[in-house]
Amino acid sequence: MKFKLISISLIVMSVLTAFSFKDKEIPVEIIPQPNHLQVHKGDFKVAGAVFSYTPNELEARTILAINSFASQISLVTGQQNRVETDGSAKDKGFVFQVNSSLGKEEYTINIDSDKALIQASAFQGFFYAIQSLAQMLPVEYFAAEKNTKVDWLLPQVEIKDAPRFAYRGMMLDVSRHFYTVDQVKKVLDIMAMHKLNRFHWHLTEDQGWRIEIKRYPKLTEIGAYRDSSILGPWRGDKSRYDGKRYGGFYTQEQIKEVVAYAYDRGITIIPEIDLPGHMVAALASYPELGCTKGPYNVRVGWGIANEVLCPGKETTFDFIEGVLTEVMDLFPSKYIHVGGDECPKVEWAKCPDCQKRIKDLGIKSDEHHSKEAYLQNYVTARVQKFLNEHGRSLIGWDEILEGNLAEGATVMSWRGVKGGVEAAKRGFDVIMSPNTYMYFDYYQGKDYKKEPLAIGGFLPVERVYSYEPYDGIPDEAHKHILGVQANIWTEYIAKEKHLDYMYLPRIDALSSVQWCDRGTKDFARFKQSVHRMFQRYDALGYSYSKVIDGIYGLEGVSGGTN
Ligand code: ACM
Ligand code: ZN
Repeated sequence: MKFKLISISLIVMSVLTAFSFKDKEIPVEIIPQPNHLQVHKGDFKVAGAVFSYTPNELEARTILAINSFASQISLVTGQQNRVETDGSAKDKGFVFQVNSSLGKEEYTINIDSDKALIQASAFQGFFYAIQSLAQMLPVEYFAAEKNTKVDWLLPQVEIKDAPRFAYRGMMLDVSRHFYTVDQVKKVLDIMAMHKLNRFHWHLTEDQGWRIEIKRYPKLTEIGAYRDSSILGPWRGDKSRYDGKRYGGFYTQEQIKEVVAYAYDRGITIIPEIDLPGHMVAALASYPELGCTKGPYNVRVGWGIANEVLCPGKETTFDFIEGVLTEVMDLFPSKYIHVGGDECPKVEWAKCPDCQKRIKDLGIKSDEHHSKEAYLQNYVTARVQKFLNEHGRSLIGWDEILEGNLAEGATVMSWRGVKGGVEAAKRGFDVIMSPNTYMYFDYYQGKDYKKEPLAIGGFLPVERVYSYEPYDGIPDEAHKHILGVQANIWTEYIAKEKHLDYMYLPRIDALSSVQWCDRGTKDFARFKQSVHRMFQRYDALGYSYSKVIDGIYGLEGVSGGTN
């Protein structure tokens, strides 16, 4: 009798287990956290589910995104997901439907046992819905290989989601260290996964010019290469060098390829041609563009150079306009970034051409600024006028606020938040990328010596997550805060896996600041979701920092402090 009782209880237990398995809530850990999310009990079976949509209602890139999602599911489940485009499969499976009452970046997802209904009004909304769906699937989805050990289920959810900020950016410096087309595409993939939509591509610097300009071929023949690179930390004259020629650049065909790749992921690329400072690679190529006419060498050290473009000479403006004409042909972005940061005025003060320009323009110094500071305003205004005449708008680093700045310029606040606060109060649009929260070249672990050598600073993921972009901005000026961006300067980041490490998982915190409604962030929830994200990064083979769990360092990249 005893034996019989046990077997009955085993049967009851297994029935209960099956029942509770079917009815359990599948945890939802999406970054950035959707703004309205309700999870219900129960699931939806993904393997073999039909995908349906009406092609003539959708952009080509939307269809591409849906089809890629369907093929990835087919690959990992090992079962083919049929795609129906004739309207015959609207009641079952994945249904993608246009809902024109939603905003461009907005989407809804409603999943019950039979159907996953995805609605959006435009490509962006559909694309973000797919990113959220991917993050609700088992992490093995990201491994891109067949896996029959996993339950290929989605949770039953209701999601209605849209971003807080329209501008959700990240910047990569490819000049201090060069990253190939494939490496840049990987950055774009990771940005897209986090629903970022602006890639600021820092293409020119003292240490390397990275974009082919047909009118000025020496920019890449000469300017794209330096003779040596720093070993270890920058110590001025005491720095050590490797003695190896270093460089590279993108052809215009490669640039077009990257722009198209970004477009298919909802990302606009904003190119930066940093001027009139940070121009030594251009000066090395065309010494006549400088105040002293050189000779100049592409810089091998870091830091700020006194050698800058000479705005006293008309040929300098011919050069700038020639470069920007080709840049505008390659990049459809409304915004073109023209730098403006860290431009020493020592050479302008001594240069007869610059002084003549100052005299001709009637520029006077005052208690706030030197004549040469106002000369930089002249450069900015002239470049802005040129861009505006071609239907584009200027972005510059917050130095462009010093002195006069013409209406219509957008300011990128980097020296903390104060430039952004001032610009918004003065009525300029602003992108907040303060080095007090958003410089991903800074250390992220407190015990610096155990971290890969970095430029300095300390910005742990908690601090990035804590950033509130409206802090210090009066209510009436909130409309000028277009969004938030993180910057990755690469003086100390020479390898792809080190690059990954510097922005994973800080990009998770960044995307939360950019996307999540004010007052909805929750670090404990975020931290849990980051651990799920780590599993996705593992599946994708990406390097990332585990310092959030007290684990330091990156194999193959030496640690240290500056
Ligand atoms: C900057 O970090 N120089 C914009
Ligand atoms: Zn000059």
